[in-house]
Amino acid sequence: MRNWHGERIWYGADYNPEQWPEETWAEDVELMRRAGVNLVSVGIFSWALLEPAPGRFEFDWLDRSLDLLHDGGISVDLATATASPPPWLAHRHPETLPRRADGTVLWPGGRQAYCPSSPVFRERSLALVEAVAGRYADHPAVVMWHVSNELGCHNVHCYCDVSADAFRRWLRERYGDLDALNAAWGTAFWSQRYHDWAEVNPPRTAPTFANPTQQLDFLRFSSDEQRAQLRAERDLLTRLTTQPVTTNFMIGTGIKYLDYHSWAADVDVVANDHYLTAADPQPQVNLALAADHTRGVAGGGPWLLMEHSTSAVNWQPRNVAKTPGQLRRNSLAHVARGADGVLFFQWRASRAGAEKFHSALVPHAGPETKVFREVCRLGADLAALAEVRGSRVDADVAILFDYEAWWGAELDSHPSVDVTYADRLTALHGALWRAGVTADVVHPSADLSHYRLVLAPTLYLVRDADADALRRYVEAGGTALVTYFSGIVDEHDHIRLGGYPGAFRDLLGVRTEEFFPLRAGESVRLDDGTTADVWTEWLHTEGAEILASYADGPLPGVPALTRHAVGAGAAWYLGTRLDQPATDRLVARLLAEAGARPAATAPEGVEVVRRRSADRSWLFVINHTGAEARLAVTGAELLAGGWCDGELVVPAGEVAVVRETSGGAGDRALPSGPPDAGAPAVHRTTDAV
Ligand code: GLA
Repeated sequence: MRNWHGERIWYGADYNPEQWPEETWAEDVELMRRAGVNLVSVGIFSWALLEPAPGRFEFDWLDRSLDLLHDGGISVDLATATASPPPWLAHRHPETLPRRADGTVLWPGGRQAYCPSSPVFRERSLALVEAVAGRYADHPAVVMWHVSNELGCHNVHCYCDVSADAFRRWLRERYGDLDALNAAWGTAFWSQRYHDWAEVNPPRTAPTFANPTQQLDFLRFSSDEQRAQLRAERDLLTRLTTQPVTTNFMIGTGIKYLDYHSWAADVDVVANDHYLTAADPQPQVNLALAADHTRGVAGGGPWLLMEHSTSAVNWQPRNVAKTPGQLRRNSLAHVARGADGVLFFQWRASRAGAEKFHSALVPHAGPETKVFREVCRLGADLAALAEVRGSRVDADVAILFDYEAWWGAELDSHPSVDVTYADRLTALHGALWRAGVTADVVHPSADLSHYRLVLAPTLYLVRDADADALRRYVEAGGTALVTYFSGIVDEHDHIRLGGYPGAFRDLLGVRTEEFFPLRAGESVRLDDGTTADVWTEWLHTEGAEILASYADGPLPGVPALTRHAVGAGAAWYLGTRLDQPATDRLVARLLAEAGARPAATAPEGVEVVRRRSADRSWLFVINHTGAEARLAVTGAELLAGGWCDGELVVPAGEVAVVRETSGGAGDRALPSGPPDAGAPAVHRTTDAV
């Protein structure tokens, strides 16, 4: 892995100088310096300008832009510029255009209109990478390479004939022969047996439900095809250059079809893009989930926030602006959760094009604005936090996450459309967030041994090895919770027979003989007074103790929540969808049993996360509420400066980061700077607005 750490936390944005007259560029650099920006991603959508005709390259404008940035002390994350092909590619090679499942061609005019399996696209894009890398490998501004952009954002599934051929090759590689494919796809059903590879196709629009394993394999194939583009560009960059290589992932509950756990090893820097959902009244909780998941993908180490927004986006139905201070809270929450860089889309708000209503660091109204003042304040904050670079986030809890389980759980023709993968994931993670407990979101094959508690929400598809690993974790003294619709199928989406939840039946000491999903809007009561909806199941205990049963609904008296002592640990099973207060209470019980504690005791709505290095720890406190918060903390506060001696006061909407001396830092006595004559650790109010 190539080292990507600078002297400071990286701070910046996508920068698209080609959208502006050259007179603007000097002002851009001047404003970047004023804001404390030190890294910009350049050239992401520049292919059509860099290569106006096949094989004819024009780099003069990019030379001048990079030189100017370098003279201004701004480093560059240089794009390979392959994100969106120029119009000439489709004009000369219409076969490079992607097709939907119903055959609809996706034409140029937006972006990313290429078939991911197209050999023509691959060849032309690598020729561009070679030209760009060859020209700028030694440019002093370039500190990082940015492959493509959000690979698979718009073109992840292509059903054209070129893709069909590639899918067949991928299947031959996976199965070897047609007998194995027929067995895996269960083609004895509905007269689907294949006798010739040429008969096999992607799951194109069909009269009724397509074969589920065919669908699942097509999703795997499609993720692998995008990954292949990443790897091809990465290989070339590795050969021609010395700087670290990245690409921006889209880890979050909105992007389903790219298996980032399998991509992480292909990059030197795990980088992520995250945007708030404007309709979500508590978007900071979903932000935390995306950050915790990105850290899980990064193996627990630092990662880079490649894009988020200073305020509103343009692509949701109602694009809500960020309230004063929200930009800062969002950015520092990512840093708290392991980001060693904070970048945005984009530097200057566009005048033209589909994203002209997207916020930026420099808004249409210019720098005399709330947004630019907050951008400058954040630059100062990140400079003050330079010492946290490279530290890791404390997490006693793991949440298991598998893209294949997500894909499988949400295939069609299932017991209930109300069972969605993100639902229990967000419910359990949200309960931890409210409890002030940080979780790593990790693949089921990750090393679980150092976690006190492991949660497995909706792990519908699970491999034997991963189910065994969870059992060994519990036997060794761990506490685990598995929720309904987990362990149901193997990697071929074949039911694990003998009763649900198949792979976890023995571990949990339960056996379910039949699912009893509820009607829309229906709910049930449990005998502990809580309510639940969506799902119930006819469950028998086989060794587990019953903690709660249904009081009404289709299965009165049947267990809904159980606990099974196994080895030195315990495995809990939840067979229904508890409401939020009951989910919070369940998580509190699990935390108590497992001995997992919050980063600090904080009022409701105040986010607390701890980062730790070999000899120091830092407590991040993000006050999302409208009231002042007081916490018992001792140490040096880094953002406003000052010493807090036993009590930290964080005004409404503000953020504090304390280099701790003891207490929350655990058993280790940590060195600290001398207390600075009792300066109060009270923070600036939001002077940015
Ligand atoms: C993505 C893309 C950017 C831009 C933003 C807008 O993250 O990578 O190019 O389109 O969305 O939010």
